[in-house]
Amino acid sequence: MTLFVQNPRGLESLVAGRATRDGAGVKLMRVLTGEWQQRLDPFLMLDQFGSNDPKDYGAGFPDHPHRGFETVTYMIAGRMRHQDSTGAQGLLQNGGVQWMTAGRGVIHSEMPEQEEGVMEGFQLWLNLPSHQKMCTPCYKDIQSDSIPEVSTPEGVQVRIISGHSHGVTGAMDRPVSAYPTDPLYLDLHFSGDQTFSQPLASTHNAFVYVYRGTLQVLSASGEAQDVPLHRMGVLRNEGDGVTLRASSGARALLIAGSPLGEPIAQYGPFVMNTRDELMQAVEDFQTGRFGH
Ligand code: FE2
Repeated sequence: MTLFVQNPRGLESLVAGRATRDGAGVKLMRVLTGEWQQRLDPFLMLDQFGSNDPKDYGAGFPDHPHRGFETVTYMIAGRMRHQDSTGAQGLLQNGGVQWMTAGRGVIHSEMPEQEEGVMEGFQLWLNLPSHQKMCTPCYKDIQSDSIPEVSTPEGVQVRIISGHSHGVTGAMDRPVSAYPTDPLYLDLHFSGDQTFSQPLASTHNAFVYVYRGTLQVLSASGEAQDVPLHRMGVLRNEGDGVTLRASSGARALLIAGSPLGEPIAQYGPFVMNTRDELMQAVEDFQTGRFGH
């Protein structure tokens, strides 16, 4: 269905993730790393985890702080419990999303609640504009059956975590006036040889991440560029949208947002605008102003 996209974006670059461990030793692939933060503003990080070996995930992410941005955890398979310094807690499981606005600071843990089986999912870090970095922290736990889905006329199943697609509003629907990053977060499931189109403002930075099969980006010139399994395809800022083609079984995330254009200062789990603000974050954490 290319009805709404006449001039689709081409593929700018392919990025292979970097294998690493985080938390208490959870094995993961850091797909969007620090060197992509400017290019993919407002997105700061994308981690992909997937293993059926409890040694890779069992240790989880014990108590740690965040300040100045949002974490979006999308669980494809598995169960993870989160608890934070305000006493809030929730269980994230198969197909569900936790959208956390860290704001001025939380200390939380993210711990697997399973001793065997597959644990698979993603964590995306989304920046907050300077005037919201010190907002009151909040969470939204979205169970799988609360994530809106749409089937396109070609039969592509679209899970809409945030933003809008094919006339359907996502689970996170916030006014752009309040959240200028205007995030689009789609999970696409292809069940045949199908194409999928999504209108996108050319100013929004956008990428796809393929986690089953492969897909192709169909550019305006008619060129088909492959995005292989476990690669991030960064899309050019041009045209009026994106058109993807894949065959049965392929699955991919399509993520886009409006850049903030502000300085990014990061020290581990703190992302602010200046070095002074980072030093303040460290001091506030060390002196217990994040809770506990
Ligand atoms: Fe965290």
